[in-house]
Amino acid sequence: MPTSGEKKRLLTGDRPTGKLHLGHYVGSLVNRVRLQDEYECYFIIADLHVLTTRPEKESIAEIGDNVREMVLDYLACGIDPQKSSIYLQSAVHAVYEMNLFFEMLVTVNRLQRIPSIKEMARAANMDEEAVPFGLLGYPVLQAADILMPRAHLVPVGKDNVAHVELTREIARRFNYLYGEFFPIPEALVSEVPVLVGTDGQAKMSKSLGNAIFLSDDAKTVRQKVFSMYTDPKRIRADIPGTVEGNPVFIYHDIFNPDKEEVEDLKARYRAGRVGDVEVKEKLAIALNNFLDPIRERRAYFAGQKGLVERIIYEGTERVNEIANETLREMKKLMGIHALHNRIRRKALESIKAEQEAAS
Ligand code: TRP
Repeated sequence: MPTSGEKKRLLTGDRPTGKLHLGHYVGSLVNRVRLQDEYECYFIIADLHVLTTRPEKESIAEIGDNVREMVLDYLACGIDPQKSSIYLQSAVHAVYEMNLFFEMLVTVNRLQRIPSIKEMARAANMDEEAVPFGLLGYPVLQAADILMPRAHLVPVGKDNVAHVELTREIARRFNYLYGEFFPIPEALVSEVPVLVGTDGQAKMSKSLGNAIFLSDDAKTVRQKVFSMYTDPKRIRADIPGTVEGNPVFIYHDIFNPDKEEVEDLKARYRAGRVGDVEVKEKLAIALNNFLDPIRERRAYFAGQKGLVERIIYEGTERVNEIANETLREMKKLMGIHALHNRIRRKALESIKAEQEAAS
């Protein structure tokens, strides 16, 4: 394999649907940055997966801008393109072929039991009867992504764990049918698999409009924090409040490094001796301190003309070599190569014989 061989490999990524937010950061980006030295890392921009719910030309046209914003977010968070390959899924053709072989190794029944597929259909306003073949096959394509560099570790959000489980089954089945080839990859779910939204809803999400984006400026962050949902029974500062499950304190716990300040705020909140304004003011400051270096790096990368594109292009070139190699090995193990080779050999022999006869 053209991989350096020593380190284990990690693969993960996102659909390019827009800018990333704090939920992405705590759910996955933090792990990616942390594991960059330990693993050989591959970060997929999963544009083909966007087509599973939105195949229209208009949505394809949006992908380009989304890719750029997303990669800027990656780089801003500290993903280092010298160490890791960031690549565009649709430009890696070997994965399309791997996807097809893997489709033979899963049942329709198995796929229909994966809850995320129904959830994605619902989120896209699709009836169950209208689910495209490709959406049912979403996790199979994801398995092809993961097995392409023969990855060992897949840091993902909770909703993607079932996809990694399917990938493990496919890898085992391939190894059983054709010979040991794929490592059985492990999912890695972060400490904070789901971050509550600013409105107190279970999940921060762009479509719910309750997200703080990594690229939001300080003023926007402050505004979003000040409109955050807190304990609704606290209509005055002297009413004792509940800290547990309170989004403002969940964020304080995660993003405010001054633990003493957080404990003091919690104690006073519980006792009805602090106003929401102070709690939020301190949270806005903590979040902006956290985001400042991210914004700075983002601006740096955004300012270098063509740099983001070069990073993706070069990453994709590297990944293509690896993907072609994996596909070739797969076809060898499956006997598909032998099939082609025999036909080619006989055809060439025949052509040669014909030419010799003619001369
Ligand atoms: N399914 C991921 C998402 O929810 C995107 C994705 C596609 C992915 N291929 C992957 C994640 C491979 C991890 C590994 O956006």
